[in-house]
Amino acid sequence: MMALFVSLFFVSSVRAEAPAPRLANVVILATGGTIAGTGATSTTTVGYTAATVGVQSLIKAVPELAKVANVTGEQVFQIASENMSNEHWLILAKRVNALLAQPNVDGIVITHGTDTLEETAYFLDLVVKSRKPVVLVGAMRPSTALSADGPINLYNSVLLAASPDAVGKGVLVAMNDQIQAAREVTKTNTSTLDSFRTPELGMLGYIQGSKPFFYRASTRKHTVDTEFDVSALSALPAVDIVYGHANVGPVAVDAFVAAGDKGIIHAGVGDGSLASKVVPALKSARQKGVIIVRASRVGQGILARNGEANDDELDFVVADTLNAQKARILLMLALTKTNSTREIQRMFYTY
Ligand code: DGL
Repeated sequence: MMALFVSLFFVSSVRAEAPAPRLANVVILATGGTIAGTGATSTTTVGYTAATVGVQSLIKAVPELAKVANVTGEQVFQIASENMSNEHWLILAKRVNALLAQPNVDGIVITHGTDTLEETAYFLDLVVKSRKPVVLVGAMRPSTALSADGPINLYNSVLLAASPDAVGKGVLVAMNDQIQAAREVTKTNTSTLDSFRTPELGMLGYIQGSKPFFYRASTRKHTVDTEFDVSALSALPAVDIVYGHANVGPVAVDAFVAAGDKGIIHAGVGDGSLASKVVPALKSARQKGVIIVRASRVGQGILARNGEANDDELDFVVADTLNAQKARILLMLALTKTNSTREIQRMFYTY
């Protein structure tokens, strides 16, 4: 009997001393933007200066981060995101992959300007080679503004990057208490807090009370399941976007071809319609080996192959549901693998 009592006491005392689970190690990679911006007054919410506050100051401004993760910070760039470039993306992607390969890194948060945040998110969604969480975050108001959204967005993004629920979900965007998928999220308003949305296909979930809640997942391949690898790349193929509108002509197409572009995204009106004045220039570009992708300026919906144009005859590719700026990213990466329009169309139906 005594032996039973002793063993029960031992078990209960050992159980009582079970160590608390360790906090996740999250690295914040800062690139600039409004989240690091400052304004002249507390009511300055437009006309401020982006990319002025360093990563250590961003972390110091949110002491609550220490409750949800072991956080370290790196200042990768300090730029307004309208200046984000292919070269910045390659540097960032290589740093992300190097960090995530380290066993002591559990997740990454990238602070970023909102103007091109959706593009960087999708680029990383296609080239990060880890299932560990990567979360992009920005702010619609500078750090000096009344009710600045940066601190709570940063707190939410760190707790999301530290969450086992975010593993394997692809690159995520955490803004305005919402969890968005990199492939579909887009900036829908120039200045309001709810600017980041996934209008038709829907966000993935919420962050509430310091917890992430997922209600859906992306159906398209991403991160470890993609065929793209930028580790050995020092540049990306030149791809630009032609914007469709009334009275459009061939000038932009001809200029991009003359500049040596390898691909052109045609962001057409409606279902990617091609104005008759532009078709000869696009055909000529294709004959010179330039890959043409039909996208839409509309932003939502499926771009139907052989709908508004005979893509089979023209040997064009369609963007499926990707907006023009994201179609540009996928085409650039596709061109690092192939020039076959058949293969590239497969990629647009896969990612
Ligand atoms: N210059 C813009 C940028 O860095 C400011 C917008 C923002 O970050 O919210 O994207």
